[in-house]
Amino acid sequence: MSKTLLVTGGAGYVGSHCVSALLDQGHRVVVFDNLQQGHRAAVRAPAELVVGDLADKKALAALFATRRFDAVLHFAANSLVGESMQKPFLYLGDNVQNAVNLVDTCVAHDVKRFVLSSTCAIFGEPDRVPIDEDVRIAPGNAYGESKYLIERILAWADRIHGLRYACLRYFNAAGAHPDGTLGEDHNPETHLIPIALDCAMGRRPHMQIFGDDYDTPDGTCIRDYIHVCDLADAHVRVLDALEDGSRHYNVGIGNGYSVREVLDSVKRTTGVDFAVKLAARRPGDPPRLVARPDKVMRELGWRPRYAAIDEIVATAWAFKRAHPQGYGRGALVAAA
Ligand code: UFG
Repeated sequence: MSKTLLVTGGAGYVGSHCVSALLDQGHRVVVFDNLQQGHRAAVRAPAELVVGDLADKKALAALFATRRFDAVLHFAANSLVGESMQKPFLYLGDNVQNAVNLVDTCVAHDVKRFVLSSTCAIFGEPDRVPIDEDVRIAPGNAYGESKYLIERILAWADRIHGLRYACLRYFNAAGAHPDGTLGEDHNPETHLIPIALDCAMGRRPHMQIFGDDYDTPDGTCIRDYIHVCDLADAHVRVLDALEDGSRHYNVGIGNGYSVREVLDSVKRTTGVDFAVKLAARRPGDPPRLVARPDKVMRELGWRPRYAAIDEIVATAWAFKRAHPQGYGRGALVAAA
């Protein structure tokens, strides 16, 4: 059934791919984004973009007063592990307060369905890997802690106000829409795959590996890279499942790749060799984060369409080549 959905952060990387998937399902989508990290050009038509900030409760109230949302999907947040260990209160303060503003507004306007973009960073250095939903929660960085606090806020909103929510704990979102129009464009960029692709394009002199003395086979950190469209598909599916109650899912593909393996994949996929240097560990990085996605597969019928790292990297490479300087900036350069 077609729904009217509010997507906060819908101009950002994961949010924009979800908006696209929700539009494909015939839903009506309103994006609320302050365009701090998001891009106007990433909001696909016919989604409506409302530029605003979640810190502004009056703007939120005005938005909810003019529309009746069937559900809210909340992506907008500061989301960098490294930054969160330098500026913890941007996370424990802003991320959490903005979520309270949003949940409070949902309750005030009787919106009863909510999907949170959560993270596997809530598990810190897990006592068992692959990580299922029963692994002990113990965030190892301020970003993970902020998302866990928001999960708890939702649990209270459910208990007291009957808000049904889903927390999707993402592993490492990667890749780009296969049609080449949507992809990853952060400023500054800190993520492994886009930085490596910049090296392959000759836009950076070399790649840095943040630590090769972890307790992993090649000493570099292992992550579960999930294609951003597969992640979007999990959101589409969970919306319907919310009718049966609140839930949590770990969303990854169940395969881990080390930093070195990812760099090898980027070199293979692009056909470009580039310099790689060893650097110090980045505070807050756990050695190994890999999902056990059995629950999301069983309950939502979800399956990743992109299982191999080379396939994921290939889509990111296609976007990077089509938009060497990202969304808006590339167009400005072309016009100049
Ligand atoms: N890395 C490097 N060199 C770089 C960039 C990254 O060695 O130039 C390493 C990191 O140390 C880490 C791995 O590559 O070991 C992946 O790093 P990313 O920055 O790409 O991603 P993170 O794992 O830090 O974080 C991402 C999202 C978070 C999310 C997390 C879940 O940014 O929001 O995945 O694992 F919580």
